Amino acid sequence: MELSNLARSLGGSVIREMFNEALKLEDTISFTVGEPDFITPQPIIDEACRRWQDGLTHYTPNSGVIELRRAIASYHANDLRPDPENQIMVSCGATEAIQMALFTLVDPGDEVIVITPAWPNYFGQIGMCGAVLKVVPAREENDFVPDPDDIKRAITDKTKLIILNSPSNPTGAVIDRDTCAAIAALLRERDIYIITDEIYSKLVYDEAGYTSITSFEGLADKTVYISGFSKMFAMTGWRLGYAIARPDIIRNMTKLHENGASCLPAPSQMAAAYGLRNCLPEIDAMRESYRRRRDLICSLVDETKGLSIRPPKGAFYAFVNAKPLCQATGMTSRQLCMDLLKKTGVVTVPGSGFGDQGEGYIRITYATSDENIRRGFARIQAYTAEL
Ligand SMILES: Cc1ncc(COP(=O)(O)O)c(C=O)c1O
Repeated sequence: MELSNLARSLGGSVIREMFNEALKLEDTISFTVGEPDFITPQPIIDEACRRWQDGLTHYTPNSGVIELRRAIASYHANDLRPDPENQIMVSCGATEAIQMALFTLVDPGDEVIVITPAWPNYFGQIGMCGAVLKVVPAREENDFVPDPDDIKRAITDKTKLIILNSPSNPTGAVIDRDTCAAIAALLRERDIYIITDEIYSKLVYDEAGYTSITSFEGLADKTVYISGFSKMFAMTGWRLGYAIARPDIIRNMTKLHENGASCLPAPSQMAAAYGLRNCLPEIDAMRESYRRRRDLICSLVDETKGLSIRPPKGAFYAFVNAKPLCQATGMTSRQLCMDLLKKTGVVTVPGSGFGDQGEGYIRITYATSDENIRRGFARIQAYTAEL
């Protein structure tokens, strides 16, 4: 008897593929999975422990404990101003919030626009809805910021939704204010939903700062804002994210979430609420470390034969142009990353895993120590010198 078409058609993420490949080797230096090397700030851990000890061991409301929803509402008091009672849903990571938003807003056959290179989970999540992926390439010469005219050209009468992600995984691109305004103008007059995945919004190094598409008029009713605690408080393993949208969207997302994850552990939610209220300064310290590492990695890339980069403006990913190496060796970026791994133990992710537009690039996560970055690049430089 066959497994479902869905199960058979879904591919795995190339990030995990590289991660698993590396597990077979010894003495590896990993630049793969996008997670902070920091541990969650201690006061957040202490708060969770206290809540477990207090016996908070039961189910919570499906949309999340009200204390966390209120903390999220206060955190967004100057921008989205959501009503904590009916405009916020707490989810199992931002990942689940995006999936629930897609399930709520698109039907099989609808077209969903994604700017690529993109976080590969979007591809699988769109596939899980039976929707059709429409890619809009972002180009290196524009710092991987999408061109609104390219978006306009991709829109058809089947387009139901667009996913925006700024700062971007994998390129670190931050969509500037003018481009955001142009995209907002384009979408305002059309019946197209927006999922804006802003999970890296606290990790921006661009002096111009950060503009959210939600700051433009006339989009609130069709936008689902996504964020979470994984990146801002180094809480990837806690699995906590959230969505903010108009009440009927949140109500329907919560219905779907009830049938999937149901709810998240109460102590984790209380601890995240504590973090939002008390630990925001800790993020500044982490961001400064990432900025330093970004500068370090960019200077090391510049010194490496066959590699180049335009400094990323946010998140913690360097999307490195390796086209000269691919051309010289005849290898694809996937073959290059595999060869690099086997010969040096350095684990990177081929750009092609983020969509065809990523071919010829490799993604290097710099959420790792300066020492690892230096040791890893010493090996990469020895490898490229040999090619
Ligand atoms: C762009 C983007 N969105 C969402 C997520 C998911 O984050 P979470 O751990 O909250 O599920 C990630 C994780 O890497 C990401 O890169």
